[in-house]
Amino acid sequence: MLRYFVLLLAIGSVIHPSHGTEVMVKGEDDKLCLYAKLMVNFSVLYEAADNKSNSVQFELPTNVTLDGSKCEANSSTLKLNFGAGHSWSMNFTVKGNVYQADSITFSYNLNDSTVFPKSASNETVSVTVRPHITDVSMDTCYSCNSKETIEDESVNQTLWNVLIQAFVSNGTQSENMTTCAADLPIPSPTAPNTTTEAPVTNATTPSPFPPTTPTPILPTPATGKYTLKPDTNSTACLMANFGLRVGIKQGEKYEEINLDPNVTTVSGSCGSNSSELVLVSNTMTVTFVFANDTKKFRLQAMNVTAKLSSGEVFSDGNSSLSLWEASVGSSYMCNKEQNYTITSQLIAFTFNLQVQPFGVKKDVFSTAEECQTDSESFLVAVVVGVALLVLILIVLLAYFIGRKRNMASGYESF
Ligand SMILES: *[C@@H]1O[C@H](CO)[C@@H](O)[C@H](O)[C@H]1NC(C)=O
Ligand SMILES: *[C@@H]1O[C@H](CO)[C@@H](O)[C@H](O)[C@H]1NC(C)=O
Ligand SMILES: *[C@@H]1O[C@H](CO)[C@@H](O)[C@H](O)[C@H]1NC(C)=O
Ligand SMILES: *[C@@H]1O[C@H](CO)[C@@H](O)[C@H](O)[C@H]1NC(C)=O
Ligand SMILES: *[C@@H]1O[C@H](CO)[C@@H](O)[C@H](O)[C@H]1NC(C)=O
Ligand SMILES: *[C@@H]1O[C@H](CO)[C@@H](O)[C@H](O)[C@H]1NC(C)=O
Ligand SMILES: *[C@@H]1O[C@H](CO)[C@@H](O)[C@H](O)[C@H]1NC(C)=O
Ligand SMILES: *[C@@H]1O[C@H](CO)[C@@H](O)[C@H](O)[C@H]1NC(C)=O
Ligand SMILES: *[C@@H]1O[C@H](CO)[C@@H](O)[C@H](O)[C@H]1NC(C)=O
Ligand SMILES: *[C@@H]1O[C@H](CO)[C@@H](O)[C@H](O)[C@H]1NC(C)=O
Ligand SMILES: *[C@@H]1O[C@H](CO)[C@@H](O)[C@H](O)[C@H]1NC(C)=O
Ligand SMILES: *[C@@H]1O[C@H](CO)[C@@H](O)[C@H](O)[C@H]1NC(C)=O
Repeated sequence: MLRYFVLLLAIGSVIHPSHGTEVMVKGEDDKLCLYAKLMVNFSVLYEAADNKSNSVQFELPTNVTLDGSKCEANSSTLKLNFGAGHSWSMNFTVKGNVYQADSITFSYNLNDSTVFPKSASNETVSVTVRPHITDVSMDTCYSCNSKETIEDESVNQTLWNVLIQAFVSNGTQSENMTTCAADLPIPSPTAPNTTTEAPVTNATTPSPFPPTTPTPILPTPATGKYTLKPDTNSTACLMANFGLRVGIKQGEKYEEINLDPNVTTVSGSCGSNSSELVLVSNTMTVTFVFANDTKKFRLQAMNVTAKLSSGEVFSDGNSSLSLWEASVGSSYMCNKEQNYTITSQLIAFTFNLQVQPFGVKKDVFSTAEECQTDSESFLVAVVVGVALLVLILIVLLAYFIGRKRNMASGYESF
């Protein structure tokens, strides 16, 4: 329900943006193949006749022509021509089940004295930049109301209120959106506590990330069973079962990745004061360091190196955590989905968690110490049970009182 509501709001806000340039490119079959509505501001630095550098700001006008725009099966071009010989074009390509904008080429004619007064040059200059419009699902519109400024040596372009669909199928614009990360309600996370304090933190750190996002929701990660043995013939010294998802925030972008246990290899080391678990999958490497503080253990450090969808490699970690705390000789358990803010860029989500980094005996978990929320739900069950019992008692009592009254009135009527 909520998701539909959000979608409606999103559409509503696109139908009434103040202004913007709206165009529809049609293919050879005369059907819509590319739709775009957007606003662009240009800031251009150019050399004036008096050897000074001038800068001008102007908007992409609403009055444009589409000569040079074209749609093909796997690539298309949106070309907006305006004014006296200026143009702005965007190239799109299909990458599997997503498409992206590969480049923006802005050509401006310095001979146009209405835009570039006293220009020393009369040439047409072209700049090509790379926009951050990637991973747009096929058959969806890319929507980004937030401003994105793309800087180049002498040209800054600011794009906002962008709604674009390339590779439109069947001539009908999609109602589904791929929303840019900047539009998602992600407040900037609070910096993690870097001071090494006594390990008395609550297991559930409130997350600065939003509770819901309209991005495609990943399936719950499968629960992996990871065991570490000091050597091949001995029993496990460390056991960890959990499903893991990491959320990575980089600038305006936020991305979530699940750890796939099927392709994950386990390594690490067991010590008496510190144990390490290293999980390596095709998409990420996660390192957990557990500390034995005499009577209690805790997750002290977590590092993640992950390959992002953009191809970039992300790496971050925190070595002063106090999570998953329990007595040495027992295990820590938290079945409910949990999220932990590891760093300002990294959030970890766990599912069906049970870990024992020290004192594992006979390849099985020792008694579990449950996390707060798990025991809270138990408490809720108890409270509900007690409330029901009280209700039953009240009903019974009411019944007996009622019967007594009836009997009494029965006697009176005689
Ligand atoms: C502009 O600079 C060039 C050399 O950089 C110089 O020869 C010319 O006289 C200058 N013109 C003016 C108007 O200052
Ligand atoms: C775009 O340019 C116009 C005119 O130069 C200016 O009024 C407006 O504030 C600019 N908008 C942004 C978002 O920069
Ligand atoms: C451009 O300027 C050069 C000299 O600066 C001049 O020779 C040429 O005719 C001009 N071209 C146009 C199209 O105005
Ligand atoms: C582009 O933006 C940067 C940073 O805001 C600024 O330093 C630069 O002067 C701008 N360039 C132009 C051509 O406006
Ligand atoms: C939007 O997406 C949903 C689910 O992915 C799909 O059922 C529906 O047909 C899509 N609508 C359009 C207009 O593409
Ligand atoms: C745990 O959190 C609760 C409520 O958020 C707070 O009252 C309590 O002091 C916290 N305990 C510790 C050990 O931080
Ligand atoms: C993190 O957990 C808290 C408490 O369980 C929850 O309110 C919040 O929505 C979660 N945040 C995310 C991003 O899942
Ligand atoms: C492991 O056990 C096998 C047979 O039980 C034995 O042959 C082998 O040497 C042992 N390896 C180690 C490292 O102890
Ligand atoms: C992992 O492997 C199990 C069995 O080997 C299979 O049932 C499951 O679907 C696989 N999960 C994924 C995500 O590939
Ligand atoms: C935990 O540390 C204490 C003191 O450093 C040590 O006595 C104990 O054996 C350790 N526990 C395990 C399971 O290694
Ligand atoms: C573990 O810690 C105890 C006390 O903190 C120290 O005495 C002992 O040497 C440490 N053991 C190892 C293997 O580091
Ligand atoms: C984890 O990351 C921190 C900070 O980025 C670094 O200091 C530490 O050495 C890393 N630890 C491991 C085990 O990679």
